[in-house]
Amino acid sequence: MTQPLYTTVMDPQEGQLRLHGPAAFEAMRRAGQLAAEVLDHLTPHVLPEVATIDLDTMAWEYVRAAGASSATVFYRGFSHSLCISVNHVVCHGIPGPKKLKSGDIVNIDVTVVVDGWYGDTSRMFLVGDVPLKARRLVEVTHECLMLGIAAAKPGNTLGDVGHAIQTHAEQNRMSVVRDFCGHGLGQDFHTAPNVVHIGRPGRGVVLRPGMFFTIEPMINAGGPAVKLLDDGWTAVTRDRSLSAQFEHSIGITETGAEIFTASPKGWHAPPYL
Ligand code: MF3
Ligand code: CO
Ligand code: CO
Repeated sequence: MTQPLYTTVMDPQEGQLRLHGPAAFEAMRRAGQLAAEVLDHLTPHVLPEVATIDLDTMAWEYVRAAGASSATVFYRGFSHSLCISVNHVVCHGIPGPKKLKSGDIVNIDVTVVVDGWYGDTSRMFLVGDVPLKARRLVEVTHECLMLGIAAAKPGNTLGDVGHAIQTHAEQNRMSVVRDFCGHGLGQDFHTAPNVVHIGRPGRGVVLRPGMFFTIEPMINAGGPAVKLLDDGWTAVTRDRSLSAQFEHSIGITETGAEIFTASPKGWHAPPYL
């Protein structure tokens, strides 16, 4: 008999939550690693005058060459391997012919499927000379992600994770987007629990070893409100202020969290090169 990949636990708000075993951790390491490699591979190419569609093509070719697939091609009508969200775009920016320019801050989000397991990660990139205020937003957003991950351990709750993120963002006079959340993942792309990036200590799902989910805070320089463009995907800040995001896929261990999507090159936050 093979070991079951997971057992389940019932949460009053979130329903059935999966508690994954060692074989599932092994599978997520492979998926997370490939997703992180895609971002490493793109890093030297995120430059002024590069069209975002060309980054998407490069990502797709890298994923194909690895014998894996993209989770977002054909996902609910999305048709690209990457979401590329520039400046005031909060998330789900669609790759296209528009070229990056000096001063842009860019989120690239990739999700790959390896042997049926999902690896989902995003990072910010600085294009050319970026003003200090925008660089600071990117830096604080990465700190928010890492503080959220530090709070993700057995016995803590998702409220503790959200609280850590919200406190740091608001202490820096930035705001946390409410309309998009992190999510459980594993053999599904988006599953329970919903990972809200604000919260109160002790509230929400109690974390247990074997839970897999993303943390992916979107932090705005202005207010938290977003609106959706007519393409049905692109979310932008209502006040057109800059927005930043980082994302990792993690698994709760006996003592804390394992990051499945850490950069093999150590390129965790800019500047990278
Ligand atoms: N990768 C995104 C996430 O973090 C989801 C993108 S769905 C898409 O959950 F269709 F917009 F690509
Ligand atoms: Co995600
Ligand atoms: Co993502």
